[in-house]
Amino acid sequence: MKREIITTKDGSKTLYIPGIYEHYHSNHGALQESMHVFIKSGWEEIRKDEVNVLEIGFGTGLNAIITLIAAKNENKKVNYVGLEAFPVTKEEVDLLKYEDLEGIENVKSEFYKMHSTEWDVPNKIIDSFSLNKVQQKMEDFIPKKEHFDLIYFDAFGPRAQPFMWTDEVLSKMYGALSTNGVFVTYCAKGDVRRSLISLGFEVEKIPGPPGKREMLRARKK
Ligand SMILES: C[S@@+](CC[C@H](N)C(=O)[O-])C[C@H]1O[C@@H](n2cnc3c(N)ncnc32)[C@H](O)[C@@H]1O
Repeated sequence: MKREIITTKDGSKTLYIPGIYEHYHSNHGALQESMHVFIKSGWEEIRKDEVNVLEIGFGTGLNAIITLIAAKNENKKVNYVGLEAFPVTKEEVDLLKYEDLEGIENVKSEFYKMHSTEWDVPNKIIDSFSLNKVQQKMEDFIPKKEHFDLIYFDAFGPRAQPFMWTDEVLSKMYGALSTNGVFVTYCAKGDVRRSLISLGFEVEKIPGPPGKREMLRARKK
């Protein structure tokens, strides 16, 4: 499917798929959204020195690189699994210019390494950060059970990709999460919130990133 590069309101770029009218990040600010939804509302909730993270929709690698930065600053170890069915191309990574963004300019080589490393095996990006990019569709993905402390659920929205928000997929996420694990998503839809509750999650509606009133954070108790 054709993808275009666009610049969002905070100056950071993202990808847009005209065929399904979906952006990879909010057009109010890609970096701003990722920082708010995944770092501030997810990462900062985890009180462990070694964190197992699962990202659904690895995409541009923006969430992975800002997690590496946070982990480095806090001296934490991260084992990161990024599920992605349709990887971005090297040309797209170059055009996104994430390495020029404040904070990311200091981890430029790590960012490029994330994209150039082999798929489907864990790779050491730095000593304290390993990345396993799994090239697979969610439909076929079998995550390790009770393993992840944190899930970044960054699929396309329910309108474009209803399957990703079904009980079938969300219960896979519940099974993959460890006790006290945290699941975050930019989505605040009532249907999704109700599904998460019916699957056993404790769900909070919390303030969303700029341009979005609310988002969801769910915990496995
Ligand atoms: C909203 S974008 C994710 C943005 C990404 N987290 C980032 O920071 O760039 C959704 C991602 O899900 C991926 N995707 C779409 N359908 C999928 C599927 N069935 N299984 C796994 N990944 C899928 C897309 O290719 C895209 O990278």
